[in-house]
Amino acid sequence: MATRRILLKSGLALPLLPLGLGACSDSTSDTNPYLQANFSPLDVESTVTGLNVIGELPAELNGRFLRNGPNPGADVDPRNYHWFTGAGMVHGLRLREGRAEWYRNRYVGGSGANTNVIGHGGRTMAIVESGGLPQNLSYKLDSLGDNTVIGEGFSAHPKLDPDTGELHAMCYDWANLRDHVRYVVIGSDGELVQEQEIPLPGMPMIHDMSLTKNYAIIYDLPVTLSLLAVGLGSSLPFRWDKEYEPRVGLLPRDGSASEIIWSPLKPNYAYHPMNAYEDADGRVVIDIVRYEKMFEADIQGPFGDSAPRLDRWTIIPHNRKVTEEIVDARGQEFPRIHPSLNGKPYRYGYTVAYEDYGFPAIYKQDMQTGTATEYRFGAGMQGAEPVFVPKEGATAEDAGYLLTYVFDEAAKTSSLLVLDAQDLSRGAVASVPLPVRVPYGFHGNWVPDSVAGPT
Ligand SMILES: [Fe+2]
Repeated sequence: MATRRILLKSGLALPLLPLGLGACSDSTSDTNPYLQANFSPLDVESTVTGLNVIGELPAELNGRFLRNGPNPGADVDPRNYHWFTGAGMVHGLRLREGRAEWYRNRYVGGSGANTNVIGHGGRTMAIVESGGLPQNLSYKLDSLGDNTVIGEGFSAHPKLDPDTGELHAMCYDWANLRDHVRYVVIGSDGELVQEQEIPLPGMPMIHDMSLTKNYAIIYDLPVTLSLLAVGLGSSLPFRWDKEYEPRVGLLPRDGSASEIIWSPLKPNYAYHPMNAYEDADGRVVIDIVRYEKMFEADIQGPFGDSAPRLDRWTIIPHNRKVTEEIVDARGQEFPRIHPSLNGKPYRYGYTVAYEDYGFPAIYKQDMQTGTATEYRFGAGMQGAEPVFVPKEGATAEDAGYLLTYVFDEAAKTSSLLVLDAQDLSRGAVASVPLPVRVPYGFHGNWVPDSVAGPT
């Protein structure tokens, strides 16, 4: 078993055990909720063709519904295993003219990018943050090798500029960078077009970013690299850091790091902004799923310290003042919007409800009225991130479909569920039962054949 060696800022070199295989533990529990129920990994790769469709799949959905998530091997130590560190496994369902042609799940090769899967520049890529390279995938999800265009490390959440087709990403690499992150822009052709360093006072975990008309937004929040966690062999070397000052930064998109407008925040951690934009008065509005604390008591995953809720942060750039408001205090995560409204004023967002290590409903948030509607999956059924797919030619913001996987706890199988985003009360427009289950995992996307098609 190989060990990596990392050079710490102090000059001290420590051996770092392979992820999930630490020799000692800073947890006292032998049980790990992130290996239970539908968090547990699969041990086989499947190919299923000619799937049954219940209801009517929209004929315009020609492409693949892709998801990525951690799928650790059986040899992980449950005490040290952190949900974020399992080897990646991608899941794909190929839809074509109302038919469900195949489902495949495949391990991700290379460094095991386990967090998201996207189509961009004609390529399909599994992606991850914290130094891991994107993995190029074939149409049928076989790993083709590392994508080195971006350099060392990328992000799990690049943000698409809907006007230019460029991807923007805030990239960190805890083992190599330590005192800065890299802001990169990838052209619509998949090539690196811009890169700059953002100096920071520490090494925070920066999972996502936001983009508005004039700014790239940096979330500099108090979950930072912990040498104690590294020394203890914990599979994720980040912990809650009460000494680290939480702040949000507005980097002018045509400016340099010295021009960043930093604003202080109350202590919190956030993985996922729903959206951000500039209003008519020049204020920057950020809607974001945030936690009160992260990785203080629970060092195996994100849900044990506090539940995620939906907040709105409004920043006045000229005086750096921030207003923080609760939008919806109910547990919810994995927000999605109409992809063409990224960085722009918008009305609707979609989240999956979070309750007690499960995901029992989808919420449709009306950010104008402050109200929400919901679709509950039903007793013993659990959902996942709702991916919004606009209807072709539609103009209404919510005219589209929500795609997610639903896990049946009794049958231990999953189904693709397609909802009408304009009216969740309609229930399933269509569903595609699978003979296997899709573990909860993290993120996915609808990748039309027009973006990354069969070759
Ligand atoms: Fe994420």
